[in-house]
Amino acid sequence: METTWQVGRAFPDDAPKVANLAVNVWGQYAFPINFYRQAIDIFGESIFLARNNDGELIGYVVSLCERGGVEGWIMSIVVASDFRGRGVGSALVQSAIEFYLSIGSRGLTALIEPDNNASLTMFRRLGFQESERIDDYYGFGEHVVKYRLLLKSEPLLEKPRDAFTL
Ligand SMILES: CC(C)(COP(=O)(O)OP(=O)(O)OC[C@H]1O[C@@H](n2cnc3c(N)ncnc32)[C@H](O)[C@@H]1OP(=O)(O)O)[C@@H](O)C(=O)NCCC(=O)NCCS
Repeated sequence: METTWQVGRAFPDDAPKVANLAVNVWGQYAFPINFYRQAIDIFGESIFLARNNDGELIGYVVSLCERGGVEGWIMSIVVASDFRGRGVGSALVQSAIEFYLSIGSRGLTALIEPDNNASLTMFRRLGFQESERIDDYYGFGEHVVKYRLLLKSEPLLEKPRDAFTL
C-alpha cells in the first residue's frame, strides 16, 4: 500500500516529536525543545506538521510572524529522510503560504545555506526569489541566501508603529 500523508497545524503536545525530528537532521545545531514548545504556544497557527497514515510525524515547518504579521519567516523545515522527494516539504511550505496570505502578509522569507540544493530548488519551485546573500550570517563562513515570496496582498501597516506615538 502506498504511504500517504496529511498536513495539519501543530499543538503543544507535538513539541517533543518535532524536537526529535530536528535533532535527527540537525544534530547539535537543532533548536532545543524549549524553542518548539514556546513557538507552538505562541505561533501554533503558523507551524505545520506532516503525518503519515500511522500518525507518525514525517515533517514540519516552523514559521513565525514579524511585526504583527507583516512578514512571515520560515524558521525551520525538515522532512524525514525516508519521505523526501514526494512533495511533503512543498506541501508544508504551501500551508505556510496560505496562512500568511490569509492574514494579509506582504511576503514570506526563508534563509537557506548556499549549498543546500534540495532546499534552494524546493523554494524556487514554489515561487520564492533570491533577494540577497548574507555572508557570515551565523558566524564566520556560515553564509545564507535570503529567498522571499511576494504575497501581493495589501499591507497591514504602511510602516512599523513608532512605540512613542500614541
Ligand atoms: C529541503 C527539504 C525540506 C525538502 O523536502 P522534500 O519533501 O524532499 O521536498 P519536495 O518533495 O516537496 O521537493 C520539492 C522540489 O525540490 C526539489 N528537490 C527535492 N529534493 C531535492 C534534492 N535532493 N536535490 C535537488 N532538488 C531537490 C525537486 O525539484 C522537487 O520537486 P520535483 O520533485 O517536482 O522535481 C528536505 O530535503 C529536508 O528536510 N532536508 C533537510 C533539512 C533542510 O535542509 N531543511 C531546509 C533548511 S533551509
